[in-house]
This record gives sequence, C-alpha cells and structure tokens, in this order.
Amino acid sequence: MPRAIFNFPSGFLWGTATAAHQVEGNNLNNDWWAWEQGEGNIRNGDKSGKACDWWAGRRWREDFDRASETFQNAHRLSVEWSRVQPEPDRWDETALDRYREMLLGLKERGMIAMLTLHHFSNPQWLMEMGGWENDEAVTLFGAFVRRAVQALAPHCNLWVTINEPNVYATGAYLGGGFPPGRNDMKAALKVLSNLVKAHALAYQVIHEIQPNAQVGVAHHWRGFIAGDWNPLTRQAVRLYDQVFNNSFAQALQTGWFDARMLREAIPQAKGTQDFIGLNYYTRETIRFDLTRSKDMYTRRFFRKDLELSEGGFLANDPEGFKQCIEWGNRFGLPIYITENGAEDSKDDFRRKYLVEHVHQMWHMVNFNFPIKGYFHWSLVDNFEWERGWTQRFGLWGLNEETQARVRRPSVDLYAEICRANALSSEMVEKWASAALNRIMPV
Ligand code: FCB
Repeated sequence: MPRAIFNFPSGFLWGTATAAHQVEGNNLNNDWWAWEQGEGNIRNGDKSGKACDWWAGRRWREDFDRASETFQNAHRLSVEWSRVQPEPDRWDETALDRYREMLLGLKERGMIAMLTLHHFSNPQWLMEMGGWENDEAVTLFGAFVRRAVQALAPHCNLWVTINEPNVYATGAYLGGGFPPGRNDMKAALKVLSNLVKAHALAYQVIHEIQPNAQVGVAHHWRGFIAGDWNPLTRQAVRLYDQVFNNSFAQALQTGWFDARMLREAIPQAKGTQDFIGLNYYTRETIRFDLTRSKDMYTRRFFRKDLELSEGGFLANDPEGFKQCIEWGNRFGLPIYITENGAEDSKDDFRRKYLVEHVHQMWHMVNFNFPIKGYFHWSLVDNFEWERGWTQRFGLWGLNEETQARVRRPSVDLYAEICRANALSSEMVEKWASAALNRIMPV
C-alpha cells in the first residue's frame, strides 16, 4: 500500500460547531424550552436542562480549552436571541457581555469565531405573536441583529445569519417535530420566504456596522436520489430538490424566490452572501408515497450498500459530500463547511465517516473548489432537538447528569488532522483502518 499525505492549504480553518440552545442550558425564554415541557414532543421526554452548562457554569471555558489543546483553530457558535431580548421591550446587556466573553475566550486561545444569529430557537414572545409566519418577525430579527452585531463586531467578522432555514421551516411548520409543531405546507413556505427577507435585512445591517464582515447562511444540502422509475418519484425528487435545496439559496443570488407552490420577487435579497456555508450529513433515496403528506408525499430511505450511523439517522455517503460542494460552488463564492458529523456513542462509525469526508473535501480543494474551512458537528455531545439526548454527535462524550466529558478516540484523530493541516494514510491506518481501502488508490 503506498503512503500518502493529503495536505490542505495554509490558513485552512479546522473547528467544531455548536448552537446556543443545544449547549448553554436553562434557556427559559425560548420556544424550545416551552416545547420540551409538552408531552410527547421530545424523544424519551428528554429536556435540555443544563445542556453542556455553558451558561450558568461557564463550561464553555473548559470546552474551548479542549478544542484549542487539540489544535482546532476556529469555532462556530450561536447567540440566543431570547437571552439578548428576553421581552419585546427589554434588552439584556449582561447577556451580550457573556457572548463578548466567549468571543474573547476564543481569541485568547488563538481561535477564529464564526457566529450564528439564528439557530432554530426563538424568543417565546415572538412565537406568541405568530412566529415566522408574521411578517413583523423580519424587522424584529433585524433589530436583534443590529443590537448583537453592534456589541460583538469588535471580536468577530464571520457571520452566519440563519442556520438551515429549510430544516427550520419544514421541521417547525411541516414535519411537526420542531415548535410550533405545525403541518401546513403553505405556512412552511411563507416562513421560508420570511427567512429570506430576514437574512437580506441582516446582511444589510451587518455590513452597515462592519463593512468588512463576511456574511453567509449555513445551508443544509441533502442529496435526493430517485428510488424507482415511477414518473411521480422523479417529479418528487425535482420538487424536493427545488423547494428544500435550491429555493432559499437561489433567492439570495437572484432576488427571485421559487418554492414552486410559492413564488415571489424579493429583490433586496439579491447578492446578499459573501460565502456559502454548507451543512452536509447524508443523501437519501426517495419514492413517491401518497400517504405521506408530512413528508411532501415521499418515503425516504438510505441506499442498502451504505453503512448507517448508530441510530440509523444518516448514512456514510461521502460521494454526496462531493455533490454538495459542487452545488455550493455554483454561487461562485468562498465555501465553508459549517457542519458535518455523525451520531455515534461508540465512536467507531464516526472515525470512518470523518476520514472519508475529510478525504472527499481534500479532493475537492485540489480541484480548486474554494473551501476555506471545516467545522465538525460537534465539539461535545449536546441536546439534539426533538431527538433529545438519544443522539451523541460529540468528539467528546457528555454525561449530562454529572457534566463529565469523555474523550473519544475521534478527539485524537481530529487533533492529528488539525495539527498537520492534512490527513495522512498513517492516520487512517491508525484510527479508521476499515476506511483505508476507500481513500487510497490501490
Ligand atoms: C443540524 C443542526 C444542528 C445539529 C445537527 C445534528 O441539522 O443544524 O443543530 O442538530 O443537525
């Protein structure tokens, strides 16, 4: 077997990603906290509780130490709107001070911050006004962004306005798994269009305050493959692809929002991205199924030859990552991989998944796709939304009762990659030998 070192360009960012509600704990004023109290909303009746105790216990300090000691040079985190604006007419400066502290904490550790302004959770007062279906949400979000960016711009210039608008809109307004738990296609598309407008406004506000800001969206791109020859299946794939993958990003490029069942000119959105953020997890095969309105009339599953993660949540499909990066490159902008990872408490699948995806990314970098950094999801196990604590995405494990962190082997594998700014065949042999034949030419 030949030896190989797959090098990345100097200055490449290597980090992990987190989101406020998933790690902070005690986010009492947001819609997720309220949703967690309702019966049957979260698997096992789990609650975010103290989460990773980043807020009350300021355990972000020890977790940032872990990240920097293992050679990560960047971190993607989010600001919780409901902390900064707990009531419509009340701003909490001490919350902004806390976020400033975290950003300084990253700076002190020599790490670059990427800050997300909306990552699924919303102030409960916004939901009481009708949430993102209410057009007013756009200007309200703009006001929050102004406040947050004014306070935090001295310590950050890489911004994600909205995390996975497509996952949020469908999860909250179509699939029913996220609050407010609706199943209404019209509402979902209306929300998506309002999120386009909210992003466009945030883009303008951020640049007003910080002209050299780099602003983007973390787009969740998912591969959809037709699972049979039924023409309705082909149509479903095209529809899914357009509504879920393309509509949002296209609107930011052209100013025209086309979600098939809702089409709208949003001229202010045109040209409002400085980079493309890509969240890639997996691809799915789709079949038309008239009985499944919640899933846009499709049944979705994974190809049989692919290895599935612990709970069967995703398949290890690095070929899809290539497609995702090709898709992102259409926009002619720098690319950041803003999320990629797998749930695996045993940390066996994760190591294979990680080396195969990093290898795929190396391949794309060497074909001159302008990828600037990679953020693994996630640093430490955290509260996985409607799946509660049943999924373990962390490089470090977490005992949420005792708050003890458990160093998984992936920590050391990822540390070697980050330190060398490269993946080598030795690393693969040492940490994920089962993947060796998939990344080497012989
Ligand atoms: C993404 C979310 C992130 C996390 C991962 C597993 O869709 O952005 O918060 O839940 O999935």
